[in-house]
Amino acid sequence: MTATVHAIVDLDVTGHRINRHIYGHFAEHLGRCIYDGFWVGEDSEILNVRGIRSDIVEALRALNIPNLRWPGGCFADTYHWRDGIGPRDERPRIANTNWGDVVENNHFGTHEFMDLCEMLGADAYVNGNVASGTVQEMAEWVEYLTRGDDSPMARLRRENGRDEPWDVPFWGIGNEPWGCGGNMTAEYYANEARRYGHFSRGHGENKVTRIAAGASDDDLNWTRALMSSAADCAGCMTGGDLPYEAITFHYYTHSGEGINTEDATRFTDEQHYGTIAHAADIDRVIRGHVAVMDSYDPNDRMSLICDEWGTWWNVEEGTNPGFLFQQNTVRDALVAGIHFDIFHKHARRISMANIAQTVNVLQAMVLTDGESLVLTPTYHVFEMNKGHQDALQLATHLRETPTRTVGKKELELVSMSASAKGDTALISLTNVSVDEECTATVDLRGREARVARARVLTGDGADAYNDAETPDRVAPRALDAVVRDGVLTATLPPHAFATVELELA
Ligand code: AHR
Repeated sequence: MTATVHAIVDLDVTGHRINRHIYGHFAEHLGRCIYDGFWVGEDSEILNVRGIRSDIVEALRALNIPNLRWPGGCFADTYHWRDGIGPRDERPRIANTNWGDVVENNHFGTHEFMDLCEMLGADAYVNGNVASGTVQEMAEWVEYLTRGDDSPMARLRRENGRDEPWDVPFWGIGNEPWGCGGNMTAEYYANEARRYGHFSRGHGENKVTRIAAGASDDDLNWTRALMSSAADCAGCMTGGDLPYEAITFHYYTHSGEGINTEDATRFTDEQHYGTIAHAADIDRVIRGHVAVMDSYDPNDRMSLICDEWGTWWNVEEGTNPGFLFQQNTVRDALVAGIHFDIFHKHARRISMANIAQTVNVLQAMVLTDGESLVLTPTYHVFEMNKGHQDALQLATHLRETPTRTVGKKELELVSMSASAKGDTALISLTNVSVDEECTATVDLRGREARVARARVLTGDGADAYNDAETPDRVAPRALDAVVRDGVLTATLPPHAFATVELELA
């Protein structure tokens, strides 16, 4: 059976810029993300530069990754940055009580993280400790990283081998304060965010976007507390200094039963569609947060960041339950495609998003095992979609699409978004049906277009995945797509993500 999809894209009607930081990443001291992931150490047999694994850097550079968040997550609120500077063999060991209760040797600290960002060409998003740290500790970390003169912290940095200050454009004020980040109430945290934010300004030329830790899912009361607190100062929302420039929310996808309740690679059709419906529901969640923000901040001075998103399945058999290691299938890739369509749509307010997490944890880009490194289906979505980074939204209208009832809602089985950059445009299409291909016809209005490249990502089933034995089972292939008389036509297989790159006249 072939379903039909009809859409219209106005190639000459551009909207907001899709901030490249929507394609951001997240590296936490959790399981094998840092240790035995990014960091193998200088003495490792695995090819590395100053201890950082080279094949991971190479793979991620191909994604143009715009920023990397670190050191957590929950870990951030137990992390004391001074433990991770100075000679490595003298650094204290600590217990990572959040993740597996393992002992951490602090070999990967501030200098190693900034080195990694420089290798990746990514901006640093450093997440400070509110729950078990102090204002002074956080202020000194900002000074250590970003100050150029001979202040005490700049001097300490030099003693540890780095002369020039680094640029740190993004600064997180705690993480999940309603949970692992201190069990606080929204009002209490909103005050703390103002206080910590006040002392977390950058030094010299370094301008820091201070990011207050926000809601879980659709907890609009949390967003209201942060926005009302931010608005409660003279002229904040009309040009004065803000206490923080952005607020976050976290959104993890599952099939409806909750995180950590089913397997990454073994699922029923019902669980597949439940997952897709839950992924698509982030649109409702964002609309809620944006409505609250609009009511306090009609001039869009503050932005919304989803700094943790992705699927959360059971850990793979035989792995440490505290390490959150999961496989990654075509279903995960479809979740990513849908999330990006929705983030693109909300580009006015959403300035950043960070998938959790880049290496060996949850919905990862790469999975490593000893020497082997596997690119996941999700990795390929990031690569195929990278042309949307800093492009302008294009007006896109889905006129006809197959649907399926999931719970009490009608789920559209095809999702789409488009953007333009100069004389090029990029259209992304996701067909979530497990068994039906679909022929898409897209009226391209306003400018003449020709197909420069079209690719599709799919596998034998929605549960197909890559592993060391078959690393390219799910990889992008050429897709037949043509533009005739201003109409783009392409047939997507079932459970597929596709991109069409256009040249515009
Ligand atoms: O990404 C794993 C964990 O999920 C993060 O540490 C935490 O912020 C969230 O609960």
